[in-house]
Amino acid sequence: MKKILVTGGSGYIGSHTLVDLIENGFEVISADNNSRSAIGMLEGVEKITGTKVKNYKVDLCNFDETRAIFEENDTIAGIIHFAAYKAVGESVEKPLLYFHNNMGSLINILRCIEEFKIPNFVFSSSCTVYGNPDEIPVTEQTPRKDAESPYGLTKQMGEQMIEAFAATNKITNSVLLRYFNPAGAHPSSLIGELPIDRPQNLTPVITQTAIGKIPALTVFGNDYPTRDGSCVRDFIHVCDLAHAHTLALGFLLQKKNTNNCEVFNLGSGDGITVLESIKAFEESTGMKLNYSIGNRRPGDVIAIYANNDKAKNELGWSPQYTVKDIMTSAWKWEQYIQHQPTHLDLRAHRLN
Ligand code: UD1
Repeated sequence: MKKILVTGGSGYIGSHTLVDLIENGFEVISADNNSRSAIGMLEGVEKITGTKVKNYKVDLCNFDETRAIFEENDTIAGIIHFAAYKAVGESVEKPLLYFHNNMGSLINILRCIEEFKIPNFVFSSSCTVYGNPDEIPVTEQTPRKDAESPYGLTKQMGEQMIEAFAATNKITNSVLLRYFNPAGAHPSSLIGELPIDRPQNLTPVITQTAIGKIPALTVFGNDYPTRDGSCVRDFIHVCDLAHAHTLALGFLLQKKNTNNCEVFNLGSGDGITVLESIKAFEESTGMKLNYSIGNRRPGDVIAIYANNDKAKNELGWSPQYTVKDIMTSAWKWEQYIQHQPTHLDLRAHRLN
């Protein structure tokens, strides 16, 4: 069994990826200090898979603590690096926090990769690196435009750091995975997205509005040049996204890569508008959502969706879940956390 280190294993995409890796025969270890995630997410992973997961509660910005993980595990076949801050609005308020955390942890991981000669590396990137693209759908060749936020900048800088590292490091092969809009939850409802404070992303705002935690949803603008005036996004089910990581590791382990740093778009390939997403939620759950049209949100790109041909052709990836599946599973998860005191308690364990 190949041993994979997953950083940010208690996070939203990290926890779903742990499940997919275990289900596909990998041995996993996690590194997560739970600064932005609930300890209970690993319990969910263990319940789903029936497998105990060892977590190192380390701050990856601390080099010695990070290095100790590699000292203790001398057979790590690959790393998937999720651990990062990801709130766009917060990054605008506190750019240095984002630069310190997201770049500091990545540098320490790369130093360990070099020292311990780790052969395979998968980095969580984002479609945010495209900025406001001139043409959609975007392919992996679409140029990176100016980042819209310090968060977006950390993803662009992360990609560029790994590319520069790959240019001189001949031992490690890397994959950069550019996620579009991850949404939904595991069908078991044992793991899902746990937003910090008031959610910013559309799907948790939809489900929290439906359950009454948020009084009403505001659609940020209906005067964009799109088919109904609201922004266009590419929602991808978190389980589809998780499976792409397993496939990306397999791709690297089987040395199918042409370059030692490869990039893949991970989106469904379909753009849907914000208003269409709300309709999909209403149709799949039978709930009526209280929403109104508001002003545009600063920093939003007008429309973006993926050309995912490369991931389909080279990784053999094919997304299984529809937007309705996304909405149904997100709604089941919202109801589950509402009625699970343990999960609610675990929210209080967060450091900040
Ligand atoms: C942003 C980032 C993306 C990141 C993701 C996760 C950018 C350009 N994109 O995606 O890289 O991975 O966050 O944090 O930085 N909306 C509403 N009302 C709401 C909430 C959202 O109308 O209450 C609309 C937004 O205006 C947007 C769409 O829904 O058009 C999706 O928004 P959101 O879920 O926040 O994701 P992005 O901004 O696309």
